[in-house]
Amino acid sequence: MLFKLFKKKKDDLENDDHYLTLRIRETVQETLDTVTIYFDQPEPIMDYLPGQFLTLIVEIDGKQERRSYSLSTSPFVDPFPGITVKRLEGGLVSNFVNDTFVPGKRVTVMKPLGNFTSDYHSHNKRKYGMFAGGSGITPIMGIIKSVLVNEPKSTVHLLYCSRSQDMIIFDKELKALEEKYPDKLFVTHNLTQPKPGWEGAEGRLSQEKVTEFFTTHFDSFLENQRFFICGPEGMMKTAQEGLSNMDVKKEFIHSESFYLEKEESAEEENLGAVVNRPIKLILEGEEYTFDVEPGKTILEAGLDEGLNMPYSCQSGLCTACRGKLLSGEVKMEEDAGLSENEIKEGYVLCCSAKPTNSEVKIQID
Ligand SMILES: Cc1cc2nc3c(=O)[nH]c(=O)nc-3n(C[C@H](O)[C@H](O)[C@H](O)COP(=O)(O)OP(=O)(O)OC[C@H]3O[C@@H](n4cnc5c(N)ncnc54)[C@H](O)[C@@H]3O)c2cc1C
Ligand code: FES
Repeated sequence: MLFKLFKKKKDDLENDDHYLTLRIRETVQETLDTVTIYFDQPEPIMDYLPGQFLTLIVEIDGKQERRSYSLSTSPFVDPFPGITVKRLEGGLVSNFVNDTFVPGKRVTVMKPLGNFTSDYHSHNKRKYGMFAGGSGITPIMGIIKSVLVNEPKSTVHLLYCSRSQDMIIFDKELKALEEKYPDKLFVTHNLTQPKPGWEGAEGRLSQEKVTEFFTTHFDSFLENQRFFICGPEGMMKTAQEGLSNMDVKKEFIHSESFYLEKEESAEEENLGAVVNRPIKLILEGEEYTFDVEPGKTILEAGLDEGLNMPYSCQSGLCTACRGKLLSGEVKMEEDAGLSENEIKEGYVLCCSAKPTNSEVKIQID
């Protein structure tokens, strides 16, 4: 019975425009705990923007699991798209990928999604500031390569935080890029637990380090500067606050979170106390009506109904489950993935939204 259910879902995905099956072409061990998986380009080719992510859909012990992984390649430079996956201690999918993904294997993914990107125009004359921590280098790598090849008048300064010398992902590739673009790419490494002999910056990223990096390479109030931040939560917060202290406008700071520690909020408890709410969901042109039980999100209720709703991280970060609120009201526990404009335009994240009245109607394209 379980097998039948999974089979039905899998067939649905294969016939659904939002999904693709990719064949693994090559795997490259980047560090002891991190691998890059390159895929053959499918027919028709998979378009993506640098910095976007794929959602892997894998079956582990009979259960379907989904996780987002940023493309670390650039569509302007790399012939084959690739993702780079770091093992997380005890992590289900990251270890599964590192242990079982081999050339020839086929993998179901959701088509690329995400807004963590730039415009890569040859007229741009910008200064880019990149703050990366650990596996947070993956989307930033694709963005850096795309800027270097497309924007001859722009420069990139990367501050990259890793644990130790041997944990630096893309160390060789970054050195090769620095050699190829000596006047355009400048990489500063910061290690939290360096091995003896390290002469660079060490310790956690601090406000002082962000200020020093900023005042050395950037100026407050300039309009041609763009900042990209991706890494562990604490590191991202430090970089964001540091830039804001330097009066960098919010619209010039782009952030991508891989993971947020969940806090139980009072609001969540209140939401859990409400009665069943009927909602209307328009999914690919079809309208469905179903109840959302107290404590459940709209995504959970829709999946319980057997609807093939798009989703990935299930924590409000990736926007795979984004829909437009046409009427009614919802409360979201987490909306970090949505831009201010998307919120203004009425977009909500179904994985995090719970209806607070009975008028809710959401459209998912
Ligand atoms: C938009 C987006 C892009 C991403 N891109 C990448 C990428 O390019 N490379 C990459 O390696 N990962 C990336 N991630 C993270 C990835 O999706 C998974 O969260 C990660 O691989 C852990 O999954 P898991 O199944 O191994 O761990 P799980 O089994 O899901 O989690 C195990 C435990 O670790 C905690 N946890 C989960 N994720 C993290 C985390 N990232 N940091 C700390 N604790 C965590 C969980 O709460 C749980 O307790 C991205 C995430 C998002 C939302
Ligand atoms: S599934 Fe990622 S934001 Fe909802």
